[in-house]
Amino acid sequence: MKKELESIRVEYKSKPLNYNNLLPNPIHQLKLWLNEAIELNIKDANAVILSTFDKLNGVQSRVVLIKEITNLGLVFYTNYNSVKASQILNNNNISLCFFWSKMERQIRINGYVEKTSDETSDNYWNSRPLNSRISALFSKQSSEVDKNYDLEKEFEEFKNNFKDKVVKRPNNWGGYIVIPNKIEFWSGRNSRQHDRFVYKKNKDWLVKRLFP
Ligand SMILES: Cc1cc2nc3c(=O)[nH]c(=O)nc-3n(C[C@H](O)[C@H](O)[C@H](O)COP(=O)(O)O)c2cc1C
Repeated sequence: MKKELESIRVEYKSKPLNYNNLLPNPIHQLKLWLNEAIELNIKDANAVILSTFDKLNGVQSRVVLIKEITNLGLVFYTNYNSVKASQILNNNNISLCFFWSKMERQIRINGYVEKTSDETSDNYWNSRPLNSRISALFSKQSSEVDKNYDLEKEFEEFKNNFKDKVVKRPNNWGGYIVIPNKIEFWSGRNSRQHDRFVYKKNKDWLVKRLFP
């Protein structure tokens, strides 16, 4: 296994970036790269690693799906009783990392998180398929469950309670918006001379190129 890992050598060969063509607003640049990933049919192109920190749990990373990008930031949805939510309550500074292997591209984001409005969460909730809504109601995300618990059977029984009923969004489920203050883009190049540039927010966004 060790030998196999050691011998993996990837030669990246994306076209060089023209730094004069970068968009002044990194959220627009991010949307451009994400749209290119979606057009290439990359599975879960909107999946991103979300890292959170608090003293109790340390640094925790997990995947979430970005469901909207506004001029302010990136929106994902989750359970407000989950570990990530309790960490965010203690410390709302987070980081995100996209990686699209097929495109040889990575985007790293630092920022802070706020809950989305009830209206935004309701709109997204109501757009979800019935099964996903019931499953969000059913899940006590991040809580322990007995090893012998028959999740599928219990879910089917739980579902029966909702026949012909309106499934309203529970208070413990909704969105967060990540408001970035730093966004870094990386694109693979020949001989490890990768392209890398970072936007930092002062009053306006300032972009700088970095050594890879
Ligand atoms: C492809 C993929 C997409 C996921 N999307 C979400 C999501 O949008 N929201 C969410 O709460 N969990 C999502 N998860 C599950 C999380 O990674 C994680 O297991 C869960 O949110 C519990 O994390 P926590 O205990 O740190 O709060 C996804 C997992 C994968 C692999």
